[in-house]
Amino acid sequence: MQPSWQERIYVACDFPTQHELWGFLDRMEGEVKGLKIGMQLFYREGLPLVEKLATQGYKLFLDLKLFDIPNTVRLTMKNMAQYPIEMVNVHAMGGRAMLEAAREGLEAAHGSHKPYLLGVTLLTSMDQESMRQNWLHALPLPKMIQHLSQLVWQSGLDGVVCSPWEAKEIKSYCSPNFLTVTPGIRPAGISQDDQKRSATPNEARQLGADYLVVGRPITMATDPLAAYHTILEQFKGGQEDE
Ligand code: C5P
Repeated sequence: MQPSWQERIYVACDFPTQHELWGFLDRMEGEVKGLKIGMQLFYREGLPLVEKLATQGYKLFLDLKLFDIPNTVRLTMKNMAQYPIEMVNVHAMGGRAMLEAAREGLEAAHGSHKPYLLGVTLLTSMDQESMRQNWLHALPLPKMIQHLSQLVWQSGLDGVVCSPWEAKEIKSYCSPNFLTVTPGIRPAGISQDDQKRSATPNEARQLGADYLVVGRPITMATDPLAAYHTILEQFKGGQEDE
């Protein structure tokens, strides 16, 4: 079944402890369906929080961005396959052997429900200049994204985490069914923070993004519920659920 527009937005829950998270969720009055739990919260609260959120019906993207030797990643994924989550990810830069090991670990252990496995291409906080400064990379950024996305696709993963601006092209050289999950979402007039390849929710839809990841524009808003609704409406662009 097609996910609803609401299920296609994961709110990035970058909070220090679950105390702040529950406070935030209270203010959202049950409107948010998807939550992205990243390193900050997971390393503090761990699996019990994940299980509690899943019991309450939230769809969860566990954003731990694994990057280690293939054997470690395989065994970690085998563990994570038991978690009640919809999505999990690894860094594409870990290379083909690591990506395949991640997939194998997840497949070896999953029961009836296998989470989507995504590869992070290039963090949306990086751009051409940061690639040059940090890694001495002269390769044009779009070439780098193409290479990493194809690596993820060829390794049998379900999709990539990428900038909305790359979604359409990635689908064209991988597959239309290859999922694109896009952070770096900023409604017009909102601070870019540390994001460099950002797009509005409306642009993200037009560019073919399957899922949005939105953090600070919602979590740091004076009225987070209103901010969420604005982003949802812009993402829908007048369309209703099928
Ligand atoms: O607050 P903001 O909307 O920038 O949050 C974006 C979220 O997406 C953060 O939790 C960040 O860790 C995550 N992310 C990202 N870029 C990637 C992958 C994940 O910004 N390429």
